[in-house]
Amino acid sequence: MKALVLAGGRGTRLRPITHTRAKQLVPVANKPVLDFGLESIAAAGIKEVGIIVSDPREMLQPDHRTGELITVLVNSQAEIRAAVGDGSRFGLKVTYIEQEAPLGLAHAVKISEEFMAGDSFVMYLGDNLIKDGITHFVREFEAEKPDAQILLAQVSRPWEFGVAELQGERVVRLEEKPKQPKSDLALVGVYLFTSSIFDAVRAIKPSPRGELEITDAIQHMITTGQNVRSHVIRGWWKDTGRVEDLLEANRIVLADLERRIDGTVDAATIIEGAVEIGEGTVVERSHLRGPLIIGCNARISDTYIGPFTALADGVQLQRCEIEHSIVLDRSEIRDIASRIESSLIGRDVVVTKSDSRPRAHRLMLGDSSRVELA
Ligand code: TTP
Repeated sequence: MKALVLAGGRGTRLRPITHTRAKQLVPVANKPVLDFGLESIAAAGIKEVGIIVSDPREMLQPDHRTGELITVLVNSQAEIRAAVGDGSRFGLKVTYIEQEAPLGLAHAVKISEEFMAGDSFVMYLGDNLIKDGITHFVREFEAEKPDAQILLAQVSRPWEFGVAELQGERVVRLEEKPKQPKSDLALVGVYLFTSSIFDAVRAIKPSPRGELEITDAIQHMITTGQNVRSHVIRGWWKDTGRVEDLLEANRIVLADLERRIDGTVDAATIIEGAVEIGEGTVVERSHLRGPLIIGCNARISDTYIGPFTALADGVQLQRCEIEHSIVLDRSEIRDIASRIESSLIGRDVVVTKSDSRPRAHRLMLGDSSRVELA
């Protein structure tokens, strides 16, 4: 049994963060989303993993100091290779498989045929987070030996997902974003395949959006009489492709946090609940209400940090209030009167009050940024 982890894609729904970084590396509770997936693959006893990465691309972007437009090479592939390496940190042996463009999940399967070399495999979407892991799901597949097994979850808005119609545990039909869903069981981003999936991906044509769809490939397996089973997951899962989902994932993971303080906290600071503070971080005259996590070498003063907040390494907060948010490396927030909440703030961002005249909001935002001012 091998694994195929998809870490390419466009990530349009997480722009501008994904202009400069692979969405699979955006941290949830200060750990990249991708790490959760790789850890659950390792926990299921799988050793060999192929990771789909996309080609680097050039794009125009304002220089963060001068504002001048410069051409940068966005290389999320290099970032993923640097973060995961050979996989030994996870107890895995990783092989990178380059996808020339995000041509669909079934395209990613197609280009991994040589790597799989006839083995069965679990396909895991690199931006999905499944709290209870995949071990049970993998064991069931090994015991029942179907041709494919899909993971399903009950959702309240099935028309936004790929939806399965079942007879018992057997899947009789899959529909992508149906107007009138036949069930409320949506496809979760983990699939188990035998090598018969490769015939299916060769047989299908691109969809109207130009992608080879995995739902079409699985539907082809069903139509040709193969046994496609399902497993309905009871625990929590999330596709972290949108900000709201990423914040929810952060909330769920932080809910299990335990208190651990490695940084320096002064006597004037109040700490409530589960708070983790990394080495080298200094907290002064602040109020921290967990669950929340602060990385290493951060500096927090005269600030309120509320529940479900994750601050990465080197973040600096002064005289502000923030909760239910994710702030990435080295960003600075200073002297902001109203509370910041439900926000995702990228790396090296500066949010500050200015006293210069005329009094106005002065913004320098990357493409596809979103700002809501009170
Ligand atoms: P999606 O979230 O469906 O696609 P996307 O990354 O292009 O995102 P958006 O809709 O916001 O533009 O992809 C699910 C996962 O699969 C994600 O981790 C990216 C990865 N992926 C590939 O590796 N190759 C592909 O061709 C596609 C479509 C996705």
